Amino acid sequence: MSNSRVSIHGYWSSRLMFILAAAGSAVGLGNVWKFPYMAGDSGGGAFVLVYLVCIALLGLPVMVSEVLLGRRGRSSPVNTMRALAEEENRSTSWSLVGFMGMLAGFMILSYYSVIAGWTLAYVLEAAQGSFTGLTGEKSGEVFSRLVSNPWRLLFWHTVFIVLTMAVVARGVRKGLENAVRFLMPALFVLILVMVVYALVHGDFLAGLKFLFNPDFSRITPEVALKALGHAFFTLSLGMGAIMMYGSYLPRNASIGSTSVQVALADTGIAILAGLAIFPIVFANNLESGQGPGLIFNTLPLAFGNMPGGMFFGLLFFTLLFFAAWTSAISLIEPAVAWLVERFSISRVSSALACGLVTWTVGLGTVFSFNHWTRIGWLDGTPFEGKSFFDLLDHLAVNIMLPLGGILICLFAGWVMSENSSRDELGMKHPFVYGLWRMLARYVAPAGMILVFLHVLGVF
Ligand code: PHE
Repeated sequence: MSNSRVSIHGYWSSRLMFILAAAGSAVGLGNVWKFPYMAGDSGGGAFVLVYLVCIALLGLPVMVSEVLLGRRGRSSPVNTMRALAEEENRSTSWSLVGFMGMLAGFMILSYYSVIAGWTLAYVLEAAQGSFTGLTGEKSGEVFSRLVSNPWRLLFWHTVFIVLTMAVVARGVRKGLENAVRFLMPALFVLILVMVVYALVHGDFLAGLKFLFNPDFSRITPEVALKALGHAFFTLSLGMGAIMMYGSYLPRNASIGSTSVQVALADTGIAILAGLAIFPIVFANNLESGQGPGLIFNTLPLAFGNMPGGMFFGLLFFTLLFFAAWTSAISLIEPAVAWLVERFSISRVSSALACGLVTWTVGLGTVFSFNHWTRIGWLDGTPFEGKSFFDLLDHLAVNIMLPLGGILICLFAGWVMSENSSRDELGMKHPFVYGLWRMLARYVAPAGMILVFLHVLGVF
């Protein structure tokens, strides 16, 4: 009965396309922009260690659960959760998981787009030769000139939202597949080039030590929560993006091995990005904990001083923009698909509506880097000194994504019958199925709850 559901939005043309699309969603600013600066802010190795543990023990089972639910439900996360809950004779309130995910998607995309706008601005900087012969100080100036000008940020934010919605409006095959086919492999090659540069010209040993030599005293509850949130963010989990992509997955593809491949590709690219950036940071005596500007302040130094740097700089920021683009698409796809299902409107109108809302919320982030760097009324609260961007990021990534992840695991592990999940996963080895089920039922939810309790100071 359950297998007869069909997706009204279409399907991926092959298993490989799903892997590329899911990797396109996972690999993005999270890997190249966010991972390095979070590791830098949180003391390096300690953060990296907790992050890797979170990916393996919590992220992977959630990813398998999301694809599993999506493929069985064959619709937007809201309707997938509702249909599967009905199938198991449970409350349809489970669809709230889908609504929370859509909300998180809007919140994340609203600032993601502003940062993706920075990459576009840097494509232009590179083309104009701004990186040539750059020093650490000058590099900082190029960056602050950009972020202190809300009009420039607004312009690029607008361009990025329009581009994202244009792809989403075209639908699964024409829009999404064409965007990911060539861009992912190209980005990978270019990051390797950067690592080689860092190996030759940077302080590679210092970079390695920073990333892989954990100082255990730095694993505070906040660092653990950030690492947990980031594991979800970087794998696009907890908000329905992967569930949505799973709903377009052909029936014969193996969910377990595809998920492992996507997670490996994603983690590999993040680590490589770290290895490209920190050796340059240390060789040039830059600050490792400088926050969101990190890659924009460091990489141009490398480009400015390497042969052919103008070309590589241009290429790098272009590819980073493409990586952000393929992720942005997946952030909004659940909402766009849901509007189409719920109100029978066209994809174009749906994308237009979603784009307008996201663009408007994004204004808060545009001003977070100039006129509005801190929200006054947060003074005296634990969030004192934070900007709108910080707050949005914290709420969506550190709270909503893990919460969504817990609920998705609980649903796949406890609410869904063993028959249904075993049938849908179709794993050849009973051991692998048993392992997933144990992780989804006990380990992942317990791990996430422990981190939450730890942050709340319960122990
Ligand atoms: N995974 C993306 C990145 O690392 C961001 C993202 C989060 C995309 C959640 C979709 C859903 O950049």
